[in-house]
Amino acid sequence: MKSPQFSLLVPLVLAALFSFSWAALPHENFLHCLSLRSNDSSSISRVVFTRQNSSYESVLEARIRNLRFNSTDTPKPLVIVTPTEISHIQATIYCSRKHGLQTRTRSGGHDYEGLSFVARVPFVVIDLINFRSVDIDVENRVAWVQSGAILGELYYRIAERSRTLAFPGGVFYTIGVGGYISGGGFGLLFRKYGTAGDNVVDVQFIDVNGRVLDRKSMGEDLFWALRGGGGGSFGIVLAWKLSLVSVPANVTVFSVSRTLEQNATELIHRWQYIAPRLPDEVYPSVQLRAINSTQDGRRTVVASFVTMFLGTIDELLPLMEQRFPELGLTRQDCTEMSWVQSILYNNGIPNQPLEVLLNRTFRNPVTTPYYKIKSDYVKEPVSETGLNGLFSQLTEEAAASTVIILFAYGGIMDRIPENATPFPHRAGNLYKIFYNVGWLEGDYESSQRRLDWARRAYNYMTPFVSKSPREAYVNYRDLDIGSNNIGYTSYAQASVWGRKYFKDNFDRLVQVKTRIDPENFFKHEQSIPPL
Ligand code: FDA
Repeated sequence: MKSPQFSLLVPLVLAALFSFSWAALPHENFLHCLSLRSNDSSSISRVVFTRQNSSYESVLEARIRNLRFNSTDTPKPLVIVTPTEISHIQATIYCSRKHGLQTRTRSGGHDYEGLSFVARVPFVVIDLINFRSVDIDVENRVAWVQSGAILGELYYRIAERSRTLAFPGGVFYTIGVGGYISGGGFGLLFRKYGTAGDNVVDVQFIDVNGRVLDRKSMGEDLFWALRGGGGGSFGIVLAWKLSLVSVPANVTVFSVSRTLEQNATELIHRWQYIAPRLPDEVYPSVQLRAINSTQDGRRTVVASFVTMFLGTIDELLPLMEQRFPELGLTRQDCTEMSWVQSILYNNGIPNQPLEVLLNRTFRNPVTTPYYKIKSDYVKEPVSETGLNGLFSQLTEEAAASTVIILFAYGGIMDRIPENATPFPHRAGNLYKIFYNVGWLEGDYESSQRRLDWARRAYNYMTPFVSKSPREAYVNYRDLDIGSNNIGYTSYAQASVWGRKYFKDNFDRLVQVKTRIDPENFFKHEQSIPPL
């Protein structure tokens, strides 16, 4: 019990520590609560930022990747907490619940709809920037990684210790480990080793009551849900124990480009039949963008066949000659390098030192300041006429900075059952389409034109892609496909987008949510609702 004298002193001490007059602010009760809950109020004051604090904006903006969510009318958090201790997170959850504030957890800040730092109700951001340690155990081929680390930090630390170990994570290495694995996580090794979530063996997690749980104490249902059920629904994952996988000392990469005038349509049409059936060691993708034709200056589409292969050039060339001779791959197109260097190659910076992987603010040359994402799954090859219709839209002015990427499926993805984790897009998919609609200007009219284009292209693709449900990838968050109400959630409403992301796994996710967070404290526009 604290003495009455102590209680009176606390607000005075805090006013000094937080360096603003908190008594005048609407969230004063929350801040007061935080100080009372923390063992050492000076330690928590150093990690709490409000608008009165001079670093508030820089802390908020440090992990805003998409400038669509950094305008003057973007709702901002009342408070940002950058915890350094588990007790800070426990106190933030407790005090937010007590004072009716929502929390949003942010690891890398890459959420495509900004849900880790934008909410339309009064809210607090828990930013895990200080929870980012990476411990590699080469002997046992595992790593413990805290959620606030970026994938680049994980790759760098693995590469420091071994050239033949890797983790099946994404190419864009500034993504936060926390959000990425929560949504399943796919990357260059997923035809061989599955999603990132398939390679998680344990977690450290904080629930709505502040309990710290691991796999054993949480039980298999919640452990299942955390490995692909989408971030922000169940609680906060502090750290992940990952299984590391084997890669050869050298992998081979190539990127071969062909325009429409060089038969790109026919090649892509063939690729749809070939790529998903290539050996698990090959990771094929096609990147599509519009350029000016060298022949007549009109807009055309260039298709870049970008592939990574877990083996040597001498092994890859005969394989491609046998399976995809139409591409005309030559030895000069191919380069051998370590697996970690292939990450830099695929980011368009092949000659940078590995230390660039530690740079959280790095922007891939194709990443525009503003963007909107959509995704689709393709189960039957699209006809050449169908492909040409998409290419014709891609040459419109509104799509000038848009990139569409086809990621081949198949490999082990065909052999892992749909319900092994919440990520359900397994057998039967030829490839996934990633529509990355980008633009450079921030005004309303420019944004609307690009958003309209994205929706038109997506509508155009309806007959060619998965149906009932039209599947989508939860890490490519897209609020166009449906969202929860702000005030309350309903199973029926959430099923609309939930089945697209999770198919029948949605029901099990709802059951887990009902058990772990029945009052729906952890919620956002596309969080899993309790029953
Ligand atoms: P962020 O911090 O914004 O979190 C995303 C969501 O997870 C939010 O709802 C958040 O509240 C929640 N969350 C975050 N940390 C949590 C935690 N510790 N516990 C519980 N919930 C948490 N994906 C992919 O699979 N393969 C890829 O190659 C790429 N490439 C790619 C490139 C670029 C440039 C972008 C912007 C995005 C991708 N993605 C991707 C998508 C990416 O995986 C997705 O946006 C992730 O949610 C990002 O995770 P962050 O931690 O960065 O996001």
